[in-house]
Amino acid sequence: MEQEYDIKSVLEYYILAGVDETVDEIPFTLTSETVKTVVAPLIMPKKQTTSSPSNIRQATTELAQETASAYKSAREVCEQAHTLKELRKAVENFDGCALKLTAANMVFGDGNPNAKVVLIGEAPGADEDRCGIPFVGRSGQLLDKMMAAIGLDRSAYYITNILPWRPPGNRTPTTGEIAVCLPFLRRQLELINPDYILLLGGSSANALFDNQEPISKLRGRWLEYKKNNGKTAKALATFHPAYLLRNSGQKAKAWADMLKLHKEIVDK
Ligand code: URA
Repeated sequence: MEQEYDIKSVLEYYILAGVDETVDEIPFTLTSETVKTVVAPLIMPKKQTTSSPSNIRQATTELAQETASAYKSAREVCEQAHTLKELRKAVENFDGCALKLTAANMVFGDGNPNAKVVLIGEAPGADEDRCGIPFVGRSGQLLDKMMAAIGLDRSAYYITNILPWRPPGNRTPTTGEIAVCLPFLRRQLELINPDYILLLGGSSANALFDNQEPISKLRGRWLEYKKNNGKTAKALATFHPAYLLRNSGQKAKAWADMLKLHKEIVDK
């Protein structure tokens, strides 16, 4: 007789066993021969036979070369894209970032393509990966409320991320992944040509401004983003809504940032 399982217990068992992520519709074991030879090399870092300094140097050089060539091809692809629609298609077809292999969907920007305000997050989470739309999960819902409080909804702004694909298990993106995908973000900014940029969290501020400053130091200060038309957009960093969900005591500071953005827009 077929054994009946209580789905909740099975899922709890998976979580206890460390299985907290799905990467495909059909389950597979990473020890099976097909997966070992076909899938694993695509999603796992290459194994070193020995870790002698020359092997490490060679692997580092290879990785740097792969990243540099993927970055170059991302820039070329961007130059050919003259509208957001063309850019979306180009990102969809781009194979230079391995995150595409584990993501369910590419998550491109959403909202008003002629917006004066662009919001930038780090990377799609599980909900965004499922729907292919940025900021639709819990942090997105909080963000919607924060923006609504200063009178803006998605018909008034455009929202996107540094990365168009979800890093597996929401891990921190590598500097290589950020470098390769940055041309896509910069091209979106060129095509939209906003007056204001709201940077959600330290990662997006660090990536766009190529610095290492912590968000606690960056937030609440106006920065200047140089656009390709020679003009500048005023950029303001604030806490990421996911951080605010975990640290509600910081919401007052985020609210002060929202008011600062609002005042600037209204006073213009
Ligand atoms: N967090 C982000 O940074 N971006 C999203 O799209 C969702 C959550």
